[in-house]
Amino acid sequence: MTNFSEISSRYAKDSLVQKSAADQLFDLLRITEEDDVLDIGCGTGNLTGKIAEKTGGRVVGLDASAGMIDEARRNCGHAGLSFEIGSVDQMRYVACFDVIFCNSAFQWFKDPQPALQACRQALRPGGRMGIQAPALQRYSPNFIDAVDKVRHDPRLSRQFASFQPPWFFLETPEQYRLLFEQAGFAVRHARIDRVVSSHTPAEVFRIFDSGAAAGYLNQEFYRLPIAGEYAGAFREVVQKAFAEQATADGRVDLVFHRIFLLARKP
Ligand SMILES: C[S@@+](CC[C@H](N)C(=O)[O-])C[C@H]1O[C@@H](n2cnc3c(N)ncnc32)[C@H](O)[C@@H]1O
Repeated sequence: MTNFSEISSRYAKDSLVQKSAADQLFDLLRITEEDDVLDIGCGTGNLTGKIAEKTGGRVVGLDASAGMIDEARRNCGHAGLSFEIGSVDQMRYVACFDVIFCNSAFQWFKDPQPALQACRQALRPGGRMGIQAPALQRYSPNFIDAVDKVRHDPRLSRQFASFQPPWFFLETPEQYRLLFEQAGFAVRHARIDRVVSSHTPAEVFRIFDSGAAAGYLNQEFYRLPIAGEYAGAFREVVQKAFAEQATADGRVDLVFHRIFLLARKP
């Protein structure tokens, strides 16, 4: 079984795609020296540490995975920085942050409306929230096409048919805008980018294994039990598919669709 606690030790090293997109989220949010900041779905805390370097205010990293928070507490020690285990929709913060930073986590909020309500409540009036997350059902054609090979593999197809995708994706910036507006935010910016980066097939596999695998190989999202050999065979099939996606130079153009959204609490 693979979940975020299980992948936490290799997440910081292999989450290349999440990190580069995060730079654009920093540009959108423009964190100042006085801001109190909540980093939701902070993972191993590498970006939370970066946030703490930008502000002298309070910084809290929140994550639903105990393994991720353990790793974050081990790795990051800044004054004013703390980490908490918890799910976004269960937060009880009231008007105590100026900024909510949410990088590569929003897609995991299966029921985003209660999550957004809790975020709005956590912000002070005028506070801002920024997200960067995969968007569109075909959020990464490379990943979707590789997983399609799993669907058609006779060793895996029966169990894979019982997989219920845990992610939340919308197809247009307007749909994301509406979702935030329904939660009482004023949306200042919403766009979906098609981001292409070049990698070896092994790197693409490591990127897959540092994020998407926490859904595809997690018993929680299957109706049928998945045995140890299922995960091994699944990984083998996607690894081979990424190798087949390489062009003549031996590299893969990895495509991701990403929503970048900035909203303000009136
Ligand atoms: C792909 S990681 C992103 C980590 C970090 N923000 C980064 O960009 O490197 C997604 C994180 O969201 C967390 N997560 C998923 N659902 C959550 C929820 N409902 N509440 C809080 N955290 C959640 C996961 O445990 C995981 O650590």
